[in-house]
Amino acid sequence: ADKKVYRASTTAPVNIAVVKYWGKRDPKLNLPTNSSLSVTLSQADLRTLTTASCSAAYPASEGDSLLLNGEAADVTNARTQACFRELRRRRAALEAASPALPKLSTYPLRLVSENNFPTAAGLASSAAGFAALVRAVADLYELPDSPAELSLVARQGSGSACRSLFGGYVAWRAGSREDGLDSVADQVAEAAHWPEMRAVVLVASAEKKGVSSTSGMQQTVATSGLFRERVATVVPANMARMEKAIADKNFEEFAEVTMRDSNSFHATCADTYPPIFYMNDVSRAAVRAVEAINAHAGRAVAAYTFDAGPNAVIYYLEKDAEVVVGTLYHVLGDTEGWKREALSGLKASMSLD
Ligand code: PMV
Repeated sequence: ADKKVYRASTTAPVNIAVVKYWGKRDPKLNLPTNSSLSVTLSQADLRTLTTASCSAAYPASEGDSLLLNGEAADVTNARTQACFRELRRRRAALEAASPALPKLSTYPLRLVSENNFPTAAGLASSAAGFAALVRAVADLYELPDSPAELSLVARQGSGSACRSLFGGYVAWRAGSREDGLDSVADQVAEAAHWPEMRAVVLVASAEKKGVSSTSGMQQTVATSGLFRERVATVVPANMARMEKAIADKNFEEFAEVTMRDSNSFHATCADTYPPIFYMNDVSRAAVRAVEAINAHAGRAVAAYTFDAGPNAVIYYLEKDAEVVVGTLYHVLGDTEGWKREALSGLKASMSLD
């Protein structure tokens, strides 16, 4: 019998949205209420490394497993199960077409995953995590699927994960089909299109977020009137402006849309009943610092954005590194709540690759 251990390793980067995904029209398939657009950060700074292996010699009784940063993680949740099922289905189709292939789809899977960024960075790592999981298993199974096809699988693990299968500037098109086959990611521009783009992460809190993105979205869709306006008009306009800003390498426009979209997303959270607050006083200090930097420069040289937590990601261009990062460090280094080590540690800002 075949006792060989089959193995494949891959990495996937973190992405930070500049037009936010917030709201599911189908929670089971992770189909979004609106399209979104993100920037993929450098793998040197923030990435998940995942090794997938399978073998007929792995005891079937142990089932599939995932070791995340050295600790056993749950794989029985519906999201992870959906990814495994979808990947096995694709492998089984190859095996059916070529009977000589080993029946990897029937073997238990073992995944080992490591993040190269401190968990203390408090960043949502699910995007890189599910993207790496899907690509590692796809490589193990030698699937011919393109990144766009794999984005359909990663999306079912975590919505934002579908965007981490591409580098550079990435759109996730909401699509309109009930089966979700048109809810797929595509690359708007390569990182090399705008090589001056940089991002710095400001850590306000390393603690796990209070309201998960899934329940926050659910509550927003169910109770916010402002959210309907966001989906109907705000996001479509922001997507169009953002794609043009990227094509034109227009940072001022990129910055305005990024900040407006973050504000709009957090406004819908505050409009739920009861309200959800992801940003805190420390986050707002970062907003004010960016406003001061931009006012001093006489144009937008920095753009803040916040996900479902208090930490800020600031986008800027390399030529403005001194004024942006230097000032943030100077101003926020003295602000209660911002961790000095985190600021200095992340002062070496992130380039995209
Ligand atoms: O991928 P999820 O389900 O964790 O949702 C992510 C939602 C935001 O990070 C707030 C926005 C986004 O587009 O990434």
